[in-house]
Amino acid sequence: MTINKFKGTRMLEVIHSPEDMFKLSRGIRKGGNSIGFVPTMGYLHQGHISLIDRARKENDIVVVSIFVNPLQFGKNEDLDRYPRDFERDYSLCKDAKVDYIFYPSYSDMYPEDFNTYVEVKELSEILCGAFRPGHFRGVTTVVLKLFNIVSPDRAYFGKKDYQQLQIIKRMVKDLNIPVEIVACPTVREPDGLAMSSRNRYLSPEERLSATYISKALFKIKDAFDRGASEVWRLKEVGLDVLNKAPLIGEIQYLEVVHPENLKSREYAQKGDVVAVAVFIGNTRLIDNIEL
Ligand code: PAF
Repeated sequence: MTINKFKGTRMLEVIHSPEDMFKLSRGIRKGGNSIGFVPTMGYLHQGHISLIDRARKENDIVVVSIFVNPLQFGKNEDLDRYPRDFERDYSLCKDAKVDYIFYPSYSDMYPEDFNTYVEVKELSEILCGAFRPGHFRGVTTVVLKLFNIVSPDRAYFGKKDYQQLQIIKRMVKDLNIPVEIVACPTVREPDGLAMSSRNRYLSPEERLSATYISKALFKIKDAFDRGASEVWRLKEVGLDVLNKAPLIGEIQYLEVVHPENLKSREYAQKGDVVAVAVFIGNTRLIDNIEL
């Protein structure tokens, strides 16, 4: 089947079965049209919309997947309470001129005899990986499955999940996956908080506390821009801010890392990434900034 669906004639369709999505995407590409793909776990926000907008600009057809992937949640994590609202997501996708939503069921993605996993070593074991064992293996496994089903020319990921982005880039390189990974800037609320579906867990007081995370990162960047480069000093600047946040819980890490191999630095260099993971109340939030 060859699909000729050109810009300007779009209607949003929802595809449930991986097999249908597979046939459809092969048809689209056979028809000479490019596919831009935005994988998501739903509960879309402006960060996702910015990925969709970019995909819209750079491709003929835009596919968004919505699948809360159980494989990437730990036992005591928030899989059950992860926010879901398909109708809302559908209408946001429609407004953003998405062509297809791929919305598979759990059993379609993981039949009972499912037993194959993809893991990017080392990169998956540090930073968030040290605190969420198995998380990135779940991410890479589902992303590779989605790439095989949707067969996009380009796939769009936010820099907000910076480690995820680097791990996916590495998987694509190591396994010769013919997909271009497009990294898009973090979208922030006016007060600096990085957009995330998990922000919805925050009470008003926690929401206020959460603003200290980006404040800490901006302050570190500022210190770096003024000439400070010893990482212990930069960390102190950030921790000073974070420790002022009224409802701050565990600070899992605050690190300055190489932008690709994510190894910790002793002296920060231009282009390095400052990455942080903290609990605000019961909610674990991550953020990062490029120096
Ligand atoms: O970033 C996310 O929302 C998820 O990790 C992804 C890439 C959709 C895989 O489930």
